[in-house]
Amino acid sequence: MDGHPAKFLRARIRHALFTVVPDRLTGGRLRARHLSQPIELTKIVAAHPDWPRACDGLKIAHLSDFHFGHLADGARIREAVVAANATDPDLVALTGDLIDLHADDCDVLFAELAQLRAPRGIYMVLGNHDHLHAPRKVIAAAREVGITVLINECVDIDINREQLRIGGLDWSNRIPEDAARLRKMGAVPHLLLAHNPKAFASASAYGIPITLAGHTHGGQIARRTKPQHNLAFTHRFTAGLYERDGSHLVVTRGVGAWFPLRVHCPPEIMLLEMHSSD
Ligand SMILES: [Fe+2]
Repeated sequence: MDGHPAKFLRARIRHALFTVVPDRLTGGRLRARHLSQPIELTKIVAAHPDWPRACDGLKIAHLSDFHFGHLADGARIREAVVAANATDPDLVALTGDLIDLHADDCDVLFAELAQLRAPRGIYMVLGNHDHLHAPRKVIAAAREVGITVLINECVDIDINREQLRIGGLDWSNRIPEDAARLRKMGAVPHLLLAHNPKAFASASAYGIPITLAGHTHGGQIARRTKPQHNLAFTHRFTAGLYERDGSHLVVTRGVGAWFPLRVHCPPEIMLLEMHSSD
């Protein structure tokens, strides 16, 4: 185990209190109902003048927060993979919290994710839950199936003789840390993956065209008529598309959850179509 023993213990206690006990009290119905919720597809179109012209119309499937474990088994991951493949994406972005607690069985998760189809590749960053138990095991299992794990670094991919630069921030809850990591990356990415939407404060300051994030789960419990009013009240950006100084942020509600309840806040995968603009 190379994670955070104290945080891992707290997460296990929270899991017992908010997931295992309520589920047992309902005879397993809570988990079954949670897993039967259809995964919605949300489509978003955005544009930025610095987005490479050769990548105009690039389709990015954005999946996050599977929380693979008690509340998301291999079958549930397969559902999300099939739905993502049906959108025929050019590339796939996975923005963290792929596992919930233990990394022991993460090979099962990555065997499912290996079925994702995207000609420009699959890119991933780690979330806070991925760091709890054994992040090195998670990273190794992802790379084993060909997923590019970005840990405070960029990769350039060649698309129609132009470079698309994709950056990834490791889990962070501190804006100055995000800014320092972006500074160290050197080149400004066109597309940034970050688990925590808080990274948008630094990403927009750097003029990054688009940042993808998860983490909030859309608050899991939201008002029916105003989904922006939800339980993630400590977060400024909770779900959907945001803009600041021309930069965009997309926050997905994610596929999974850490407690088995979603009210007016269904699980989600996203398809982003990104354009260059003048
Ligand atoms: Fe999460």
